[in-house]
Amino acid sequence: MNTNPTLNTDKITVTNWAKRYSEIRNHSVLICEPLEIEDYVVQPIVDVSPPKWHLGHTTWFFETFILEPNFPGYQVFNSQYNFVFNSYYETIGARVIRTDRGNLSRPSVSDIYKYRKYVDEQMNSFLESEFLTEEIKPLLELGLNHEQQHQELLLTDIKYILGHNPLFPAYKKNEVSPKQFSENVEMISFSEGVYEIGFKGKGFCFDNELGRHKVYLNDFKIADRLVSNGEYLEFMQAGGYEDFRHWHAEGWDWVKQNEAKSPLYWHLIDGKWMNYTLNGLIELDLNDSLCHINFYEASAFASWKGMRLPTEAEWEVASNHFEWGNRWEWTNSAYLPYPNFKKEAGAVGEYNGKFMVNQTVLRGASEATPTGHSRNTYRNFFQTGLKWQFTGIRLAQ
Ligand code: AVJ
Ligand code: FE
Repeated sequence: MNTNPTLNTDKITVTNWAKRYSEIRNHSVLICEPLEIEDYVVQPIVDVSPPKWHLGHTTWFFETFILEPNFPGYQVFNSQYNFVFNSYYETIGARVIRTDRGNLSRPSVSDIYKYRKYVDEQMNSFLESEFLTEEIKPLLELGLNHEQQHQELLLTDIKYILGHNPLFPAYKKNEVSPKQFSENVEMISFSEGVYEIGFKGKGFCFDNELGRHKVYLNDFKIADRLVSNGEYLEFMQAGGYEDFRHWHAEGWDWVKQNEAKSPLYWHLIDGKWMNYTLNGLIELDLNDSLCHINFYEASAFASWKGMRLPTEAEWEVASNHFEWGNRWEWTNSAYLPYPNFKKEAGAVGEYNGKFMVNQTVLRGASEATPTGHSRNTYRNFFQTGLKWQFTGIRLAQ
């Protein structure tokens, strides 16, 4: 029996590792290209990491988990970096506390780019060497998927950093065309019965998507599209944020403590709703899908509509029947281990499993998710009060 699900060599379909490695690593650098040096350093809230920290941390991951243990004679770039770029691995030891990531003027941005270059050169030699064994490939694939997760976090954090600057600088200047949107929402029906969820087949998945298992679902309906900005504005204008009846107790406390009134990045300026986007501050597009709401807001909106959020099993079973991939969709499911979930041995066992308490599952993917990094079995997870991810709402009943 295989007791090490993520590190299952059957799941490896990659043939040209050097090519895949350099493409993914370059993409992180491309994401940062529009930044000014100062943008790389700040941490406006605890959830947002400085872009330079993401660039260092993803590099540290390859250095610590691939090169150091597996490439004989490898010399670390700087022995102090382990303390700076270890995120949360107790197995690896002490680290800068998360709230202090934005207080580090050193290592400088240029040092971190040198660090990337050094590790990339070493990785290239390693990938061409006899030391790249079948056993290491799953870990390498984890490192690449880890880099992709941080590419999404990079964009999300860059948006927060620029979008909370009073100058509202644009990250890029693209033509923004109004979104197409259908007035009607079709509720797709599913019959009660036993279904299977969880990853199957070839290719990479995270350990939390295993093992595939049966679930019993009652009859349910799920919307064929996401909630729009216009629909959420109706909820706001109907007094949604003032009516405790739609909110969880925790959600209502959150509304009052934070004087919550709207999604993140919405600004009422001279009577007009404006929205900070990666293209800068623009007029709110009522037809675009709603973004940047937390779980409390998603649940309150659903309640106001007389509906609810789908469970993650309902979402996965229905996912071939609607389009997804534009927003992370809040589900009504707690982030818990699947039956037969197995934690890896060693440090990578800390990757997902230890977060399976007090978080909620999001399904789908977002505009910030790198191409090739989404699946309908992917389980994203965040705490219920967080709004800074690219999150939206799909209704169910
Ligand atoms: C799955 C997005 C919640 O942000 O910590 C990054 C991704 N895991 N490094 C997170 C992750 C390890 C993770 N999320
Ligand atoms: Fe990480």
